[in-house]
Parts: sequence; C-alpha cells; structure tokens
Amino acid sequence: MKTINVGICGLGTVGAGTAQLLEKNASIIQKRTGFPIKVTKAATIDPYEDLDIDFSEITVTDSVDDILNDSEIDVVVELIGGDGLAKKIILDALDRGKSAVTANKALLAKHSEEVFTAAYNSPGFLGYEASVGGGIPIIRSIKEGFAGDEIESFSGIINGTANFILSSMSNDNKDFATALKEAQEKGFAEADPTFDIEGIDTAHKVIILMELAFNALFEFDQLYVEGISGIESCDIKLAKSMGYAIKLLGMARNSQKGFEGKVHPALVKSDSMLANVQGAFNAISVYGNFVGHTMSYGAGAGSHPTASAVVGDIIDIGRRLSSLGGEQVPALSVPLDQLSKQTILPIDETESQYFVRFKLADENDIQAIKKSFQAAGIAVQQLSDLKQSSEAAQIPFAILTEIVAEHRLQALVKDLNNLPFITHPSKIIRVDS
Ligand SMILES: NC(=O)c1ccc[n+]([C@@H]2O[C@H](COP(=O)([O-])OP(=O)(O)OC[C@H]3O[C@@H](n4cnc5c(N)ncnc54)[C@H](OP(=O)(O)O)[C@@H]3O)[C@@H](O)[C@H]2O)c1
Repeated sequence: MKTINVGICGLGTVGAGTAQLLEKNASIIQKRTGFPIKVTKAATIDPYEDLDIDFSEITVTDSVDDILNDSEIDVVVELIGGDGLAKKIILDALDRGKSAVTANKALLAKHSEEVFTAAYNSPGFLGYEASVGGGIPIIRSIKEGFAGDEIESFSGIINGTANFILSSMSNDNKDFATALKEAQEKGFAEADPTFDIEGIDTAHKVIILMELAFNALFEFDQLYVEGISGIESCDIKLAKSMGYAIKLLGMARNSQKGFEGKVHPALVKSDSMLANVQGAFNAISVYGNFVGHTMSYGAGAGSHPTASAVVGDIIDIGRRLSSLGGEQVPALSVPLDQLSKQTILPIDETESQYFVRFKLADENDIQAIKKSFQAAGIAVQQLSDLKQSSEAAQIPFAILTEIVAEHRLQALVKDLNNLPFITHPSKIIRVDS
C-alpha cells in the first residue's frame, strides 16, 4: 500500500485548512481510499506554531524548493496565490513528473495555455477544483458528471463578497459603501476589494469554466467585465419593485454567433433560485443539452470549504497513483489534440433584455423617454412605479426593454444622456435570460 506524500506551499487560510482536514479526517480518507495521505512537508514564511495542526511529522521549511526537490513527495499543493512563485511551483512540479493541486484562479485564468499544456505534457496530474466555487465540486461536475453533454451555457454567482454586498443592500437597505464596509468588518472582503467588487475575481472563474465547458482556450482580456461599484440603492429598489433582484453574474454561452462570456450585474427574477442565493454563498447553474438545467450551491470560499475541494483533488490523484495507476480525466476534459483556441464575442455583438434606470428632473419627462425608445424601435415591456421610489429633485425611474442588440441599446442611451432633463448618467443593467 503506497502512502501518498503531500507537500503544501503556503500555510495561509486554505493551506492551513488543507493540513487540518488531512489530519482530522485521516482515518475516514484511508478507509475510503485504502491508502494513507500524509503531509510530509510544508513551506511557509509566516509563524506557524500557533496553527491548529500537528507538526510532529511535518517538516516545515521557508523554501518551496525543499518541497520541489523532495523525490518522496507525490503531490505539490500550491496555496500561495499570485502568478509569480505560484506559477513556478506548478510548472516545476509538473515538469518533474509530480502532480500539482492549486486553488489559484488568477493564475489559471491568465496563464491557462502554459499551465494546462504543462499538465497535458506531464505524467503528473493537475487538480484545480478549488479555483472555482470554493467547496462546490463544479469542476468535477462539468469534467466528469456532464462529460456526455454538450454544455450550452452556464451562469453563476461565483464571488461571495459581491453577493454579500448586494444581499445587504437589498435586505437591509444599505448603500454600497456601507455594505462594503460591513463586508470588510466581517472578513468577507479584503482591505483592497477591487478584484471582488469590480468583477475581476468572477472573471477569472468564468474563463476557467469556459475552457472546461467548451474544451477551448480563451484570452482573459476578451471577456467583458463590469463590477458592482456603480450599483446604487435606487437600482436595487426599482428592480425589486419590478419583480427582480440584482446579482453579480459570471456567464457564458455557446451561441450560434460564437462564444459569449461576460461578467456584470444582472437582474434575475425575484422567485428564481439565483435571486435567493444570499450572503457570501455561491451558486452555479449549468445547462447541458441532455441534462437540462442543473444548479450547484454552497460556500464559495473560506478555509474549510476550499480545503475540502483541495483534498478532493489530492484524493483523486492519490487513487490514480496508488491503485488505478491509470490516467486522470484530461485537465480540460478533452485530449490535447482536440483543444482549440477560440475567441469571445465582443459585448456589442451580443443581445439581451435591459433594465435602464434614469434620474429625472420632472416626472413628466417620462413621456419623452418613452417616445425616444419608440422612435428607436426598441419596445418597452415594463415601467417602474414612480411614486414608490421618488427622491427629491432626482426622480429615479426604470424601464425594461425587449431583447435587443447591445449596440442599439447603448447608442440610444448615449443619446438620451445628452438630454437636458436627465440629471445623472443613466444606468444600464442587463437582465439574465
Ligand atoms: N481564501 C479563500 O477562501 C480562497 C478560496 C478559493 C481560492 N483561494 C485561492 O487560494 C490561494 C491561497 O489563498 P489564501 O486565502 O489561503 O491566501 P493567504 O491566506 O494569503 O495564504 C497564502 C500564504 O502563503 C504565504 N506565502 C507567501 N509567499 C510564500 C513563500 N515564498 N513561501 C511560503 N509561503 C509563502 C503567505 O505568507 P504572507 O501572508 O506572509 O505573505 C500566506 O501565509 C489563492 O490563490 C487564492 O486565490 C482562496
């Protein structure tokens, strides 16, 4: 019976959780797999003695090279983050024929070709379940569970911080700045929250899911990314009064025109499952041509949920190395010679239903707006209730359009913003379909 030896690089939030899980659940893991999994080395530059981990059989080092150079280590776990040292660790491990496990979505999204090609060319395996959706096994679902389906689209709330802020704005009537501060105080947001609130973290995860779902490599920079920092309380209230919640969604679709991929705030029906995902939770809906709609829900981050995903990968790799001795499911679910490079459609070439919020000087100006939409040939399907949401001297008012080409809607709203009675730039929010 082979022992699977693990080296962990980085004993931060996820690294410490991973060591704790492997220690606490050692017997149940061995019962299930038939072999022991042991952390033999850990690299950290922080003090580690106070972590709730038994270090008696773990050699602690301040150099990741001690792990990479250790011929006894089978699986190198990269939990440092960033794309400098982290990339070196993964590429080096794979190059030496070891397996690598990572939670590093930023690295995979920006360097997918290099990292996945290294995985394909190595006798070792690459596990990256923890890079999307924390504890939700969405990578394994797409790679293995839906392996027979053509994935047509997916849509998800995959950033807990943004969802916490939007939930708090909606449920407790907080404005964006207060909700962000609360998220930071509760540990849901970093001191620099840019990646979370500007949609960048969601975008990293969308690229990873697109590559897996559509068996192709994409350029991160082609993805349309818009965050939630421009969402105001009046948008949430108006959307609610019209039967919708606002969520930050990461979405992709294999449409007739090409591959769509985008991250932006979106209106979702108040009674939909996505609308009811609250706080820091994540949910991902995948649509396959035979399975239809599926929905996965759970904690999208945090020490223990993310460690659960990391350890799932270590066990999977351990099973291949130990008993099966066979091949792992290819890193992006298809053989290397089937992996193509694809482009993402520019947002202008997509279409959607739109919520457009105006701030008016006078409620009679609504007629002029309605006429402009009529003249542009864009049907208005719903108008917000004015009285419910008026504020002094800036009357918030919203409309819902029919499904229309993005470039037509953008052109119209640009013209409308030049009208004298529009007191503030109008806000366009796409509706999830
Ligand atoms: N936290 C989550 O819930 C979560 C969820 C999903 C994915 N992830 C991903 O998981 C990865 C790790 O995230 P995390 O939250 O665990 O980060 P973290 O708490 O900051 O942990 C990273 C650790 O690596 C240490 N480190 C930095 N340079 C090192 C070096 N040269 N050698 C050894 N250790 C070094 C850091 O020390 P210093 O603090 O001194 O720099 C820190 O303790 C990231 O890629 C992140 O995106 C995290």
